[in-house]
Amino acid sequence: MQKAIKILDNIYWIGGNDRETDLFEGLWSLPCGVAYNAYLINDEKTAIIDTIKSANLADYIERLTSIIPSGKQLDYLIVNHMEPDHSGSIRMIRQLYPNMKIIGNKKTMEMLDAFYGITENTIEIKEGDILDLGQHKLTFTMIPMVHWPESMVTYDTTDKVLFSTDAFGGFSALEGGIFDDELDMNHYEEETLRYFANIVGRYSAPTQKAIAKVRALAPRIICPAHGPILRSNPNHIVDLYDKWSRHETEEGVVVVYGSMYGNTKFMTDAIARAVCEEGIQNVIVHDAARSNTSFMVRDIWKYRGLVIGSCTYNTELYPPVAHLCRTLSNKMMKNRILGICGSYSWSKGALAELQMFAERGGDWTLVDPSVEVKSSPSESDLEQCRLLGRNVAQAVKNAR
Ligand code: FEO
Repeated sequence: MQKAIKILDNIYWIGGNDRETDLFEGLWSLPCGVAYNAYLINDEKTAIIDTIKSANLADYIERLTSIIPSGKQLDYLIVNHMEPDHSGSIRMIRQLYPNMKIIGNKKTMEMLDAFYGITENTIEIKEGDILDLGQHKLTFTMIPMVHWPESMVTYDTTDKVLFSTDAFGGFSALEGGIFDDELDMNHYEEETLRYFANIVGRYSAPTQKAIAKVRALAPRIICPAHGPILRSNPNHIVDLYDKWSRHETEEGVVVVYGSMYGNTKFMTDAIARAVCEEGIQNVIVHDAARSNTSFMVRDIWKYRGLVIGSCTYNTELYPPVAHLCRTLSNKMMKNRILGICGSYSWSKGALAELQMFAERGGDWTLVDPSVEVKSSPSESDLEQCRLLGRNVAQAVKNAR
């Protein structure tokens, strides 16, 4: 039997680790899995904070009933977030605990009805309301669009524990430990950035508002819905989220190419080499057809410079590059340096689409020259590519 893990007296982790799902939201690669964190406060009144993805319900029930014996009723389910990685077991939990009241805000209630047809035995709360469990007094703070409109955090004012939903979470299952001081945080910081860039990053402005509210609460422990529980240095991940959502980048250049027969790769190899020779140490090259989009987005979020090269495929941008560009436009990145190049043989198309991406895709500063090559790059074409690489490198350094 799985057991609950104690966080503080009467506060427990009752979540689960998912190492079977390949793609989060059906999109984002999970080579190290993901944790769905949920929590129990066992006071005079009992409260669970969020449920779990339905496929992982058995873990959750075992951990919950290791503290609250099965057959004994629960008082409250607090729903911080309705995305089904957390809400997916609500209907089943309601059947097991029919007297339990479900707590959420106005938007939560609309979604509870829309997803699960639940309208009865609920309590609608608003910002600042207090839920008294006995020793523990809980308050609720709205953080809309981090990551959905109904997202909110629950704060235990007694022990200064913040249940922060998606905010400050990251990918990767929890490897034995559940606390930041029990785990290799270098790994989890990379996975937290990948989670932020792909899931939360589009909502950077709401994230900035959420961070201001969280800093005002001054939590001692942060319990996010994914990733490690932050008890040794909770401000560190808050600071990282703050940096990423301000679009503060590091010196480096990501080079992404889409190439059928190696000619476009030949061009981007020349660009990457020129960037390196200009003194940029962080140069990361991705083959758009083979790198999972989530890793490309992570690296592009981290570094200031981006070079995209694409062959023309059936008169258009190469499909994996088109997918990446569409994804990047959706993320609404700011303050990035961009270089573009393309190739064609019997019909142009790729470079024109990259130019449209540069104009409408986000807050990109396009660096000259944009290089277009017919079939295979000549030495003079490659010299243009090197010039583009040098110019991107200089722009990245000048934007410090
Ligand atoms: Fe972890 Fe937006 O759900």
